[in-house]
Amino acid sequence: MSASAKPSQATITIEGSNTTAVLPLLSGTLGPQVADIRKLQAQAGIFTFDPGYGETASCESKITYIDGDEGVLLYRGYPIAQLAEKSTFLEVAYLLMYGDLPNAAQFEEFNHGVTMHTMLHEQIRRFWEGFRRDAHPMAVLCGVVGAMSAFYPDSVNINDAREREISAFRLIAKIPTITAWAYKYSIGQPFMYPRNDLSYAENFLYMMNAVPAESYRKNPILERAMDRILILHADHEQNASTSTVRLAGSTGANPFACIAAGIAALWGPAHGGANEAVLKMLGEIGDKKNIPAFIAEVKDKSSHTKLMGFGHRVYKNFDPRAKIMQQTCYEVLGELGIKNDPLLDLAMELEKIALDDDYFVSRKLYPNVDFYSGIILKAMGFPTTMFTPLFALARTTGWISQWMEMIEDPQQRIGRPRQLYTGAPQRDYVAIAARA
Ligand code: CMC
Repeated sequence: MSASAKPSQATITIEGSNTTAVLPLLSGTLGPQVADIRKLQAQAGIFTFDPGYGETASCESKITYIDGDEGVLLYRGYPIAQLAEKSTFLEVAYLLMYGDLPNAAQFEEFNHGVTMHTMLHEQIRRFWEGFRRDAHPMAVLCGVVGAMSAFYPDSVNINDAREREISAFRLIAKIPTITAWAYKYSIGQPFMYPRNDLSYAENFLYMMNAVPAESYRKNPILERAMDRILILHADHEQNASTSTVRLAGSTGANPFACIAAGIAALWGPAHGGANEAVLKMLGEIGDKKNIPAFIAEVKDKSSHTKLMGFGHRVYKNFDPRAKIMQQTCYEVLGELGIKNDPLLDLAMELEKIALDDDYFVSRKLYPNVDFYSGIILKAMGFPTTMFTPLFALARTTGWISQWMEMIEDPQQRIGRPRQLYTGAPQRDYVAIAARA
C-alpha cells in the first residue's frame, strides 16, 4: 500500500483464540472509510453493539453529506449556503429526488407535475371533523398522511417507477395543504384551497394566512424566508426520522405509510420538536434575570433539563444551517419592524451566555438550526404547535427522495438490527401456586 492509498481492510482478532475476521474497508466520495461488517458474524461469531447507531453506516446514499466537525452540509454535492441563497425549494426538491439541478425545461415539467397535485381528495376534508379542535397538528399530519394510501391506491405499487414518482409528487404537493388545513381547523377558519399560480412557499403562506373575506397581500421577504426555511430543512442524511422512513420502507410498506412513520419520529423534542421546545423554554425562563438560574439547572444532570436548540448529534463545531437561519432571522424581524421583542432579547442573551460558558464550550454545544427557526416562525405569526409540522413539510421532500433511493438500491434488505440480550437465561415455567 502506498503512503497515500487508502487501506482496503481491517482485521479483528478475538482475544485468546485464533479466530480473526477480515473486514473490507469501503470508501465513499467524501468522509471516513467504513468497515463492512456483513461477514463478521459468519467469520468471528460476534455482532457489533452500537445503541443509537451513531457509529454505523446503515446504507449507501448519494443524497446528502455532512461533515459535523467542519460544519459542512451538502445536498447532492452543493453547499447548503449556496442553495439557500440562490435556489428555490422546488428546485432543491428536484435536486434531491433526481440527483442534479434541473435545466429550464426539466424544472417546468417538475413544477407542473408537483403543482397539479396540490388539492386533496375532497373526501379527505371530512377527516378533520373527527379531530378535536385542540388536536396537535402533528397528530393530524400523521393521521392524514397515513390515510393517503386509502385515497391514492393507484400510486402504491412500490415496484413501479412511475407510481413511485407520482407518490412523491403527491406527497410534496399535498403536505402544505394538509399542514395549512391542520392550522385553519385549530383556529376555526375556513380551509383555503391551494393556488397553483403561487410559488410553493407563497402558496403555503396563502393557505395559512388568507381568508375568503379579504384579498390576500403577498410579502416577497416573508415568501423568501419561508422558502429558505424549507430549503434548510429539506434533508439531513440518515437522521432519526429518515432512518425510520427507510426502515418502514425496507419492509415494502407503501410510501404514504412510510412518510407517516417519519412524521411520527420527527415529532419528538430531541428531533423536530426542538424548535417548539425552544419557544416553550424561553417562555418558562420568562426574563433575562432568570437566565443564570436556568443555566445552573441545565448543568445539573439530575434535573434532566436541556438547553433546547443547542447541541447536535453530528455537528460538533457549528450547524451551517444555524448561520443562515440567524441571518434570515434578522431579515424577517427587520421586515416586520420587530425591534425590542422580549423573547428575542432573551434568546440573544441566552445565546451569548451559553457560547461563553465552559460547560457548553467544552462539550461543543452550539446553537442549532432550531434555535433560530423557532424565533423566526414566531415573528412570522406561526403558533408554536405549527413549528414541527413546518419541519415535516420541508423534510417530506428529503424523506421521499431517500425512500426512492432505498427502493432502487440492489443492496436493500429488510432492516433488522440485532441486540445484546441481558434478560433472564432460559428457565422453566412455574405454576402460580408454587411461586414465591
Ligand atoms: N443542553 C445541555 N447539555 C447538553 C445538551 C443541551 N442541549 N446537548 C448535549 N448536552 C450534554 C450531554 O448531557 C452530554 O453531557 P455529558 O458529557 O456531561 O454527559 C454532552 O453534552 C454530550 O452530549 P451528546 O451525548 O454528544 O449529545 P447527543 O448527540 O446524544 O444529543 C441532541 C444530541 C441534539 C439530542 C442533544 O444535544 C439535545 O437534546 N439538544 C437539545 C434538543 C435540540 O435542540 N434538538 C435539535 C437538534 S437539530 C434538529 C435536528 O436535526 O433534528
